[in-house]
Amino acid sequence: MAIAFRVLLLLLTISGSVVSTLGHGIGINYGQIANNLPSPSHVVYLLKSLNMSRVKLYDADPNVLSAFANSNVEFIIGLGNEYLEKMTDPVQAQTWIQQHVQPYISQTKITCITVGNEILTGNDTQLMSYLVPAMQGVYASLVNLGLSKEVYVTTAHSIGILGNSFPPSAGAFRQDLAVYIQRILAFHSQTGSPFLINAYPFFAYKDNPGQVPLEYVLFQPNPGMKDPATNLNYDNMLYAQIDAVYTAIKAMGHTDIQVKVSETGWPSKGDSNEVGASADNARLYNTNLLNLIQKNQGTPAKPSVPVDIYVFALFNENLKPGPSSERNYGLYYPNGTLVYDIGSVSLSSQSYLPLPHMEYSASKKNVISFFNILLLPILEGVVKR
Ligand SMILES: *[C@@H]1O[C@H](CO)[C@@H](O)[C@H](O)[C@H]1NC(C)=O
Ligand SMILES: *[C@@H]1O[C@H](CO)[C@@H](O)[C@H](O)[C@H]1NC(C)=O
Ligand SMILES: *[C@@H]1O[C@H](CO)[C@@H](O)[C@H](O)[C@H]1NC(C)=O
Repeated sequence: MAIAFRVLLLLLTISGSVVSTLGHGIGINYGQIANNLPSPSHVVYLLKSLNMSRVKLYDADPNVLSAFANSNVEFIIGLGNEYLEKMTDPVQAQTWIQQHVQPYISQTKITCITVGNEILTGNDTQLMSYLVPAMQGVYASLVNLGLSKEVYVTTAHSIGILGNSFPPSAGAFRQDLAVYIQRILAFHSQTGSPFLINAYPFFAYKDNPGQVPLEYVLFQPNPGMKDPATNLNYDNMLYAQIDAVYTAIKAMGHTDIQVKVSETGWPSKGDSNEVGASADNARLYNTNLLNLIQKNQGTPAKPSVPVDIYVFALFNENLKPGPSSERNYGLYYPNGTLVYDIGSVSLSSQSYLPLPHMEYSASKKNVISFFNILLLPILEGVVKR
């Protein structure tokens, strides 16, 4: 698969046309908290060149959805946290779908709507109480409009919703969130939608580089860690986290809900205290991950369920607040140059995709917070082999 990926990039640079696929289990987050990104029509070109066919947005940007008309790219769109209260009102939910989904869906494939991002690990209990009613409001509107079979409704969680994450067979949600999670799981079970998690092994490493093996978080060869209850061996943290979520869901009585990774990635740059943030590590994380996902296998506990992920992110986003790492998760600079070589082919010159007549899109105010991730359980887990 590593070879396939290299061939893709090689052919891409030779022919400039779409030549291969990044597979069905791989998508990319197209965040737009920046004032220097190319216009959506240029992004269409960029993704087509990569044959990247699954994109996740944090909003329902009409410019993006129209630019991708008839493109074969499928979208997860998002309702920001600020919409939650409104969406609990079925009339307003229906109006939103009629304005933001219906006009585009015949030409742009929209397969999923995330209602809110990382609500349960924030500290706004009012928002938490709106979450399930908002998901229900959006779902009911889709049913009314005959779209509920093609568009799933879900929400994305930080991995910090776990109170225990290792060993994976002991995965459990935080006790204080159980009341919300129980209702969310019932919703997924009833509507057949997936459970989404945003998972960043980078945070576990950064906060405890002395104890978290770098190879284990970067999908590099390493002996792994054995789950004593199942005897399953885990050689990467991301898969251990996914299985911990499956265990936590099962402990709440559900075995019919699929877990997907709505965000994962590694920053190519960080502040001096952000240990591990480097182009080399970001390249290893993303290339190893993509190669692994393309094998179409599952996790140790769910070998027959292929892992499904959305890489964070397409571009570096210069207006994101927080430490430097936050602005350096992109695979691409805004000018269309790869931040680091994906695959071990040297792409330094070839990777530049000319983006003539750059138009700059307006900055966006999406709220994505990586900081409410609770690292303790993850660290505990890794140390406690
Ligand atoms: C692009 O990817 C799709 C699947 O996403 C695949 O069916 C198609 O064959 C790929 N195109 C080329 C030219 O490889
Ligand atoms: C929690 O609440 C305080 C005060 O309202 C706010 O400043 C802070 O940003 C909040 N934290 C999160 C993670 O939402
Ligand atoms: C694109 O932007 C990056 C980062 O600013 C810069 O290092 C690189 O030289 C630029 N590439 C081109 C072709 O302009």
